[in-house]
Amino acid sequence: MSVKQPNTIYLEDYQPPAWLISHTKLRFELEEEQTLVRAQLSIQSNPAARDKRMPLELFGDEGMELCRLSIDGQILEACDYQREAGYLRINNVPDTFVLECVTRLLPHENTTLEGLYKSDGMFCTQCEAEGFRRITFFPDRPDVMSVFSTTLVADKCLYPVLLSNGNPVDSGEDDDGRHWVTWDDPWPKPSYLFALVAGDLALLEDSFTTLSGREVALRIYAERKDLDKLDYAMQSLKNAMRWDEEVYGREYDLDIYMIVAVDFFNMGAMENKGLNIFNTSCVLAHPLTTTDQGFQRVEAVVAHEYFHNWSGNRVTCRDWFQLSLKEGFTVFRDAEFSADMNSRTVKRIEDVTLLRTAQFAEDSSPMAHPVRPESYMEISNFYTLTVYEKGAEVVRMLHTLLGAELFRQGSDLYFERHDGQAVTTDDFVAAMETVSGRDLTQFKRWYSQAGTPRLQVSDQYDARACEYRLTVRQSCPPSPGQDHKQPYHLPLALGLVAEDGTELYAGLLELTGEEQEFCFDNIKQCPVPSLLRGFSAPVKLEYDYSDAQLLMLLRHDTDGFNRWDAGQRLSIRLLQEQMQRYRDGQPMVCSEALIEAWRQLLNDTALDPAMLAQCLRLPSEAQLSELAEQIDVAAIHAAREFMRTSLAAALEQEWLQAYQRCDTNELYAPDADAVGRRSLKNLALAYLVATEREPWLALARQQYQQSDNMTDQLAAFALVAHSDDRETAEELLQAFYQQWQHESLVMNQWLSVQASDPRDGALERVVALAQHPVFDMRNPNKLRALIGAFCGQNAQHFHAEDGSGYAWLAGWILQLDQQNPQIAARLLTPLTRWKRYDPVRAGQMQVQLQRMMDTTELSADVYEVVSKSLM
Ligand code: ARG
Ligand code: ZN
Repeated sequence: MSVKQPNTIYLEDYQPPAWLISHTKLRFELEEEQTLVRAQLSIQSNPAARDKRMPLELFGDEGMELCRLSIDGQILEACDYQREAGYLRINNVPDTFVLECVTRLLPHENTTLEGLYKSDGMFCTQCEAEGFRRITFFPDRPDVMSVFSTTLVADKCLYPVLLSNGNPVDSGEDDDGRHWVTWDDPWPKPSYLFALVAGDLALLEDSFTTLSGREVALRIYAERKDLDKLDYAMQSLKNAMRWDEEVYGREYDLDIYMIVAVDFFNMGAMENKGLNIFNTSCVLAHPLTTTDQGFQRVEAVVAHEYFHNWSGNRVTCRDWFQLSLKEGFTVFRDAEFSADMNSRTVKRIEDVTLLRTAQFAEDSSPMAHPVRPESYMEISNFYTLTVYEKGAEVVRMLHTLLGAELFRQGSDLYFERHDGQAVTTDDFVAAMETVSGRDLTQFKRWYSQAGTPRLQVSDQYDARACEYRLTVRQSCPPSPGQDHKQPYHLPLALGLVAEDGTELYAGLLELTGEEQEFCFDNIKQCPVPSLLRGFSAPVKLEYDYSDAQLLMLLRHDTDGFNRWDAGQRLSIRLLQEQMQRYRDGQPMVCSEALIEAWRQLLNDTALDPAMLAQCLRLPSEAQLSELAEQIDVAAIHAAREFMRTSLAAALEQEWLQAYQRCDTNELYAPDADAVGRRSLKNLALAYLVATEREPWLALARQQYQQSDNMTDQLAAFALVAHSDDRETAEELLQAFYQQWQHESLVMNQWLSVQASDPRDGALERVVALAQHPVFDMRNPNKLRALIGAFCGQNAQHFHAEDGSGYAWLAGWILQLDQQNPQIAARLLTPLTRWKRYDPVRAGQMQVQLQRMMDTTELSADVYEVVSKSLM
């Protein structure tokens, strides 16, 4: 048994804060072996609090040393306050007073990467969600907003750059080689948006003139060696600032906007007011070291964090149950931005693929939770695909139901009503209700009910009456704590398409009932329904399409997303048939119709290469797993490999032509067209190599050697590295290492390529790589690159029947939990899916979960995930 079970926090227990902090003055003495923090908090009792005369309760991490505490200058003795696990309580305080508190921290020993810590020699912070309580004692909750003034003192040689939120207002030097800078942030903010950085950093500087003509200094900081990798982030930032003015009418509100790149970071990036801190993987970009995907991620994350300045910072969350208020809305905003900057349809396909693969899996797992969860033990566990991606889909549905114009009015009203406040998802929906005059009560079930709804659609055509009827039934499977679901209100975008591809109707239906019938008049021929266009709601749609109907939609649908989706549906069906054959010991077959359809697509040179590449990609093993009743790892792998190699062989000439068509000797640029050409080219190369015919591996090797960018180099590298030509493979593994060993982010790719190598002996290889000098278990990017890739992209071996993959992962989690609980809990995800597997594997996974449960001193993070998984 674990020593202690962490507390559960409930949404229904929310109480307004008893005390408010109008002003927070901080002074950090940063030294190599310790940091002293002096905090002066101007505290008032909250007139809106239920119960007056409450004792003052501040959060403070147990490991933090309290050196001195005073109220209005009067030192408090140990008997004047109580320190309990995670709290400091002071009884009998005046109504208004200044609390001064000195704490001593050991940032160089802080491996949790929360609070104040060191990354490659520089000081930095991560305070969301509850990291500020590792810095000083504070009402560390988002509904307590305070004006911060921060002074940093440090050695001038080691830490010439000293940054915090807001504007620098004063600075100076002391005699002892130390210097100091004071930063004032005029905007009241919750403690989770506090940040500081101290280090020897290089800087890329630019500026932006806002719509109203104010000049904003833009500064991106990184280690000196990475100074040449900051241009794309800067351009993305300027594009995002312009876009938010044009599309949402939102202007930036400080004179300086700063981004700092750090290599040790638990997540992607953090929107601290005026001082974003980024994982290097989300800000550094250079053609030689960054793939197209990497470039697009930088663009999206830079925009995401910038957009938070309004959707998150100016208007923030009342409590952490409302996390999707800022995250769902901001993901929706960044997705629309990326769609405007690149290809809208391709962006939608990528986002829906992620949702269907990973969020749907989460939604049917023991950790399933509503977009607005009702309880948690550790909030870090709720930075999930459900809160972010499904949350964004919920906002998208509001956009669809109201239309762009009303949605914008609703967003304007939301920002106007709640500027400077900490609010709830209900407040967001209320603004949309006000501008539209609509009742969105039922719609709000999207926030409170977990699980992926299912739509079952059937139809009837009456040729004589020219009448077409659609019947839609909705349901939603049970999820933890929610046995019965109420029907959802959702937009169902659809078209009716004639057999010859003519569009007979296009429109938007609204679903509210459990079963609804829709009747269309004046439909002159029997149509094929193109349902859920653009993926208008995050649901699983079932309609009994024939292969011919899917092929027709793949060819003719006017909705690009549904064209792609028709092809996916067909591939999935054919793959599932082969899985069954594999299980029955029958030979698998590849459908001639599919081959012919793909041949047509490949020969259609008018098609956008990016779209073509999406259409010619088979659904991933992870997605096929999500769709399976019971996941049969071997059958999924065998069926997909069979289809892939069959399509490779049958269309060899077409793949070569596509390869050559896209192999234009142009200078590298990460724009949508060029990205699309490279994605088709590298997909074609992968199919060519899959034929296992002699010339193609040599072609890959040639591409590896001749490429002038990481996208082409890495694609070729992975193909060769996974091939059976071990001599060439080993040679390239060495060469790649030699070339890039000093580029940390490229070495992550090198680790991932090897961790996802499906050949025999995969576990032995990752065990050995964990001993390699480029691997560093304190760096989350390295953990994701090796452990995450093996467990997530090498199903065959992770799910080895003897349980060896599971035991290996559990060993890591137990070790990591001592060091970085957030990362440990996150890497645990694959084991939480045990119920979806056959009894042998499920049993082996359970054994490992129980092994963790039986460990004393689990973190709250890991305890929550393990205990809920075993329930
Ligand atoms: N608010 C950040 C973002 O979405 C994520 C920070 C989460 N950090 C954490 N420790 N859970 O941009
Ligand atoms: Zn965010």
